[in-house]
Amino acid sequence: MKSFYVLNSDSVLVRQTVKSDIPEIVKLQEESFADLAKIGNIWHPHELQNHLEIFPEGQLVAELNGAIVGSATSLVVNLVPKYADHTWKEITGDGMLTTHTLKGDSLYGADISTHPKVRHKGIGHKLYQGRKDVAMKFNLKRMIAGGRLYNYCEYADRFSPLEYAHKVVNCEVHDLVLSFDLINGFNFIKILPNYLEDARSLNFASFIEWKNPHFNPIIEK
Ligand SMILES: CC(C)(COP(=O)(O)OP(=O)(O)OC[C@H]1O[C@@H](n2cnc3c(N)ncnc32)[C@H](O)[C@@H]1OP(=O)(O)O)[C@@H](O)C(=O)NCCC(=O)NCCS
Repeated sequence: MKSFYVLNSDSVLVRQTVKSDIPEIVKLQEESFADLAKIGNIWHPHELQNHLEIFPEGQLVAELNGAIVGSATSLVVNLVPKYADHTWKEITGDGMLTTHTLKGDSLYGADISTHPKVRHKGIGHKLYQGRKDVAMKFNLKRMIAGGRLYNYCEYADRFSPLEYAHKVVNCEVHDLVLSFDLINGFNFIKILPNYLEDARSLNFASFIEWKNPHFNPIIEK
């Protein structure tokens, strides 16, 4: 799919991950999640291998001039009730995607990242387009995720996480992750406390939801 964001959208290819990409994805993770890498909270090769075995269609990379510059990991879940509180570890089966089930109705975004050197060029947008294609292919009702409140640490002395998120929604404050999610058609639902051990968000995440406009309730699973 072409993107109006990237000056030359043909130069960025979003495709399904293959096994030989794993070392490059680990390197990308070290740089795009530099803060989480320090506490070992990034994908390890055995986890990425597992993701490919469990749900290959949900694993995407973005390639620019032959190099992997972005990646996104997804699984399908059935969240009951549909806005239930959860942690990253619970929903992803501690990163192994053992919670994945094609009987579920929601594509879940376990992570998304772009290399810091090529951010703000529409690569993340293209990865989200790729994920939306996956949600449509599997006729899923929606895509959901817990997005860490990336810039909350700069505002925590003034605002509660909910006040902060509302300021981002109202475009009074910019957040590297939530602003990007909103511009890609997600709605902010609520705050998820204790989502992920993360110094930037103080462990708070935004529960975000994108409804698949092409969902067909008549098609049986
Ligand atoms: C969140 C993240 C994936 C976004 O990736 P990205 O490739 O920069 O995303 P995009 O380029 O599509 O969009 C980012 C912004 O650039 C803007 N943009 C896109 N193309 C642009 C262009 N050609 N010119 C100017 N601005 C552009 C977008 O409108 C968006 O605006 P925003 O600042 O209001 O959000 C990236 O910042 C990242 O990897 N963050 C760290 C990892 C992380 O915490 N991930 C999320 C939790 S799992």
